[in-house]
Amino acid sequence: MSAIPLVSISRLTKHFGGLTAVQDLTFDLHPGEILALIGPNGAGKTTTFNLVAGVFAPGEGSIALGGERIDGLPVHAIAARGLMRTFQHNMPFAGMSLTDNILVGCHTRCSDSLFDILIGRRRVRRRETAARLRAAELIKFVGLQDRIDDDVSALSFGEGRLLELARALAGEPRVILLDEPAAGLTQPEMTRLGAIIRDIAARGVAVLLIEHDMHFLLPLAHRVVVLNFGRKIAEGTPEAIVRDRQVIEAYLGEAVGDLAMRPASA
Ligand SMILES: Nc1ncnc2c1ncn2[C@@H]1O[C@H](COP(=O)(O)OP(=O)(O)O)[C@@H](O)[C@H]1O
Ligand SMILES: [Mg+2]
Repeated sequence: MSAIPLVSISRLTKHFGGLTAVQDLTFDLHPGEILALIGPNGAGKTTTFNLVAGVFAPGEGSIALGGERIDGLPVHAIAARGLMRTFQHNMPFAGMSLTDNILVGCHTRCSDSLFDILIGRRRVRRRETAARLRAAELIKFVGLQDRIDDDVSALSFGEGRLLELARALAGEPRVILLDEPAAGLTQPEMTRLGAIIRDIAARGVAVLLIEHDMHFLLPLAHRVVVLNFGRKIAEGTPEAIVRDRQVIEAYLGEAVGDLAMRPASA
């Protein structure tokens, strides 16, 4: 894990009318790091994602990616700088193959410009072949190689989420934002997802994830940031977070005794 942050979020604030969804939020994210954002419903987690990904411009504060300010830039400009995300509620494009779903994800980073098309069809075709090979690699990476020729409608919910992850990876991100990736997954799918996320981080990608399932999260995250009513109330290792009095009161409640006792394996 590198000491230089890849993403620096500083004093971020977002208001929706009279409601302050995110307030004075500061944290860093490093290459190869798995950082979890947790907190009760309505705490501002998804809004933070939307600010980082460029869906909303912050009211105050700044976001830097690789030392350059990205706050206020549109989604596609931030994606082009290597920041990809998955959504809390999103399913693949029905009626398309797995490969085509991934090639859609590839669009922001590897589409051909009009110029490319003018300079030569053969080169475009070669690039398309390369993109298809890469898509097949990604499908294998998320463990869906047996389904590669299927229409996405044949996938289970959990397989759809894994495909969505492959689609985000097709943009070759430096940073990936995952909004509740384990929600709705079966236990074996969750185990597979955990291994995939570790593998992504091991390749140097910075992973920021929102997750409610603490059994999934605690053995996976290197660091946790806890939000409550838009504010950061704690930041630290999973071990420290589950013992933090304020976090227990605001979010973890009764479950914490059980969680703190569990060995950090799985
Ligand atoms: N587009 C929006 N317009 C108005 N209010 C919003 C919008 N998005 C989120 N909010 C509000 O901001 C707060 C934080 O929401 P959100 O970031 O979705 O929380 P979380 O993801 O932690 O559950 C909530 O009170 C929510 O109702
Ligand atoms: Mg949310």
